[in-house]
Amino acid sequence: MVYAPAADCHTRDLSNISAKIAIIGLGTVGTGVAKLLLDHGDRTARHAGRIPWLEKVIVRDLEKPRDVEIPAGVLSDNLEDIVNDPEIKVVAQLIGGTEPARTIMLQMLEAGKDVVTANKALLAEHGAELFDRARELDRCIAFEASVAGGIPIVTNIGQCLTGNQITALKGILNGTCNYIITQMQQHGTDYQSALKQAQQLGYAEADPTLDVDGSDTAQKLAILSHLAFGVRIHWQDIPLEGIESLQLRDIQNADRCGYRIKLLAESKLNGNAVEMNIAPTLVRKGNPLAEVEDAFNAIRVRGDAVGPVFFHGQGAGQMPTASAVVADIIDTVVGRTRLTFGNLELWSDAQSPRQMAPADTAVNKYYIRLQVNDDPGVMASLTSIIGRHGVSIASINQQQTQSDDPENTVQLVIMSHATTAGAIKAAADELKNSANIKGSPVVMRIMNS
Ligand code: NAP
Ligand code: HSE
Repeated sequence: MVYAPAADCHTRDLSNISAKIAIIGLGTVGTGVAKLLLDHGDRTARHAGRIPWLEKVIVRDLEKPRDVEIPAGVLSDNLEDIVNDPEIKVVAQLIGGTEPARTIMLQMLEAGKDVVTANKALLAEHGAELFDRARELDRCIAFEASVAGGIPIVTNIGQCLTGNQITALKGILNGTCNYIITQMQQHGTDYQSALKQAQQLGYAEADPTLDVDGSDTAQKLAILSHLAFGVRIHWQDIPLEGIESLQLRDIQNADRCGYRIKLLAESKLNGNAVEMNIAPTLVRKGNPLAEVEDAFNAIRVRGDAVGPVFFHGQGAGQMPTASAVVADIIDTVVGRTRLTFGNLELWSDAQSPRQMAPADTAVNKYYIRLQVNDDPGVMASLTSIIGRHGVSIASINQQQTQSDDPENTVQLVIMSHATTAGAIKAAADELKNSANIKGSPVVMRIMNS
């Protein structure tokens, strides 16, 4: 077998030993994929058994400056250049959002192409339709990069852990949120500046609301839970809280008490139901999930045979994500994707669907922060509200915010014993209406080990 050296990959006639690839979308991820294919033809050829040859790159605007030098004749703004080339068998579809991404993916499948995508919004919303259509057309879809960027979690759950019944997944699945929280915690950076940095570094979605409100995490958790548990739920049905209202003082309070706050996604089997939740959560320092920083992601998977397995790596950004996309391209060229795709029966009626467990019954310990009037009897009245809802208090810390506070308030930080989400919500609702409280109570879960 002759492999092309990287330097002359696009100047020699290698048509008999190459597999033609197309990319749609040359943003953060598309650029990384083009760089790997163009600069490392030797490496990708060695792993694919032939050269994954970048034949076409489709963009909207041919004049827009790009961060990668695309060889002459490769860049185009016409999707028909892919459709009409029967030798292009694999298309990396790297545009975000659901439309026109859905229509383009269907168009590619109909044209006989296998598709690689990083687009979790598209899969979480239209996975059933797209996977059904791919199966009908005897095509396949690879989607490793859609969850946790460079961490090979889809392959691990879908292939390497299939001797197990997965019983629980816990993870940090959004690089942008973890980057923001890390900057706030380590440097005291304000929320907006940290978000702006995450956008500049290429971590955030085109609409970063999807990152910070937890939607992106929910789409990823829906995909992973689908793989792990066969649960067919819409991502919008997952109980969800983002980090938009996270305050530095809660990060500092958590730190003083021995915790880090993380946007934690959880999914676990409870009988035949699956408990799912996404919310800012206190994680005990020293737990590997507490030590995940910046745009890194991590997932702890528990299988009934293997026990706990921990995955950690860069969950967002150009090259980590391109790493996952190019692995999928190679797997598709080699034929591995076809084998697993056919057998996974993703989003198919053949699966026995489990139901999502009711949110109110999940049991956790909680962190509660209240800003309260500094008057006699207030503490007793507030703790009695909490107690009335069956919530038992593990510790209380009272701290005067400012000695000259004209409003005469103090901060109360309460840690509860384990209780249900329903009980804590009822307690928080009643606390909110108490005349002794300024503003709303802040309530966060504490991660069970
Ligand atoms: P991005 O930087 O916004 O790039 C998207 C690209 O798609 C842009 O270049 C855009 O063109 C192009 N595009 C949009 N509609 C198009 C169309 N109809 N035809 C051709 N090109 C079109 O987004 P990204 O960060 O690369 O993300 C791409 C996908 O990967 C998203 O689904 C995202 O969720 C996912 N993802 C991203 C990361 C990450 O770290 N960034 C990680 C994992 C997964 P213009 O340049 O003209 O705007
Ligand atoms: N916006 C996403 C994140 C990209 O920050 O995690 C990776 O999916």
